[in-house]
Amino acid sequence: MPIQKVALIGCGRILNKHLDALSENQELWQLAAVCDLDADKSEEAAQRTGVPSFTHLDDMLNAIDCDLVGVLTDSGSHADVAVRVMRDYGKPVLVEKPMALSIADCDRMMQAAETAGVRLFVVKQNRFNPGIQAVRKAKDAGRFGKMVMGTVRLRWRRDEGYYNQAAWRGTWAEDGGCLTNQTIHYIDLMTWIMGEIESVYAQTATRLVDIEAEDTAAVVLRFSSGALGIIEATTATRPDNLEGSVSFLGEGGSVVLGGFATNKVETWNFADNPNESAEADASYPIDNVYGYGHVMLYQDVHQAMMTGRRALIEGAEGLRAVELLHAIYESSETGEPVVLSEQTGADRYPNSKLGHSAER
Ligand SMILES: NC(=O)c1ccc[n+]([C@@H]2O[C@H](COP(=O)([O-])OP(=O)(O)OC[C@H]3O[C@@H](n4cnc5c(N)ncnc54)[C@H](O)[C@@H]3O)[C@@H](O)[C@H]2O)c1
Repeated sequence: MPIQKVALIGCGRILNKHLDALSENQELWQLAAVCDLDADKSEEAAQRTGVPSFTHLDDMLNAIDCDLVGVLTDSGSHADVAVRVMRDYGKPVLVEKPMALSIADCDRMMQAAETAGVRLFVVKQNRFNPGIQAVRKAKDAGRFGKMVMGTVRLRWRRDEGYYNQAAWRGTWAEDGGCLTNQTIHYIDLMTWIMGEIESVYAQTATRLVDIEAEDTAAVVLRFSSGALGIIEATTATRPDNLEGSVSFLGEGGSVVLGGFATNKVETWNFADNPNESAEADASYPIDNVYGYGHVMLYQDVHQAMMTGRRALIEGAEGLRAVELLHAIYESSETGEPVVLSEQTGADRYPNSKLGHSAER
């Protein structure tokens, strides 16, 4: 398959994961250029990679040829950057999570992709983790039977130092809190397995850091199937990261993926094969909570671009995740359960502050 060229916009903390994934996929991808508004960062990335660097996306996209543009900028700027890349340059986009912060911005991005006739891929690399892939296979094979409960538990540490790294972190307008920035990965895994959500009820709190958004949340969900769900999320875990886990309980079996980042199969117990073990295949060591999914993600996007098949996560699913976050924030503001299926229109969660300035 022909090698595709990718240009990356945003040379911050997550850049390394993309560079590692590209160097693991040299037969598929070639880095064409890097860009960051901060010249020191773009130059440093250029020195490491040997590709040209730019401080403005227009300069980059006018100067180089590429097949895909990665948007790795702060979350609040995803929509503006992605729309410009698709609308003004007709290039497909791979955007980091969350796709955007407001539903209107997600709509805008999907519209720009459609008008330009290009693909819009969203990074949710954890879906490629072997454990969740095994769970999905079991689900598709009907082994869970009737689903009973899905649970997300995120107990990570993000202290004041983390939030002080950049002005956008922890703000409503540009980031959100532990649900939007960190737990979104595991919420996505839960909904990928459990299906559509009917309603949510949420309480949120900001306990140990001085940020606008939440560092702690408790959410109860009802799925369209009738199963229930729980999200327990906090980045106020001290003194260290403790756990990032998801569990799935059905009438046919139970699975718990634990470790720091759902990288360890804690329980794999199905009535149809009680002696089966998924541990050897699906557990893997990690050296940070981001895992290794970006490597598989770039393979998936390459194949989707070459064959025209759907990638694992594209715009519509990115939007669904953002919509759920707004429903959760709406509930935590109003103190009432929120029924998702009754909501329509871009501003359908008027009390959710995500994607808006704090005064809202
Ligand atoms: N998939 C994951 O596991 C994962 C992990 C961490 C971060 N992320 C996501 O990646 C994104 C970036 O996070 P980060 O921690 O690297 O942030 P960061 O603040 O370290 O880096 C963002 C960079 O983007 C640059 N930038 C902003 N607007 C720009 C523009 N218009 N043109 C060029 N450069 C621009 C900034 O100067 C900054 O250097 C966020 O959306 C975050 O949610 C994803």
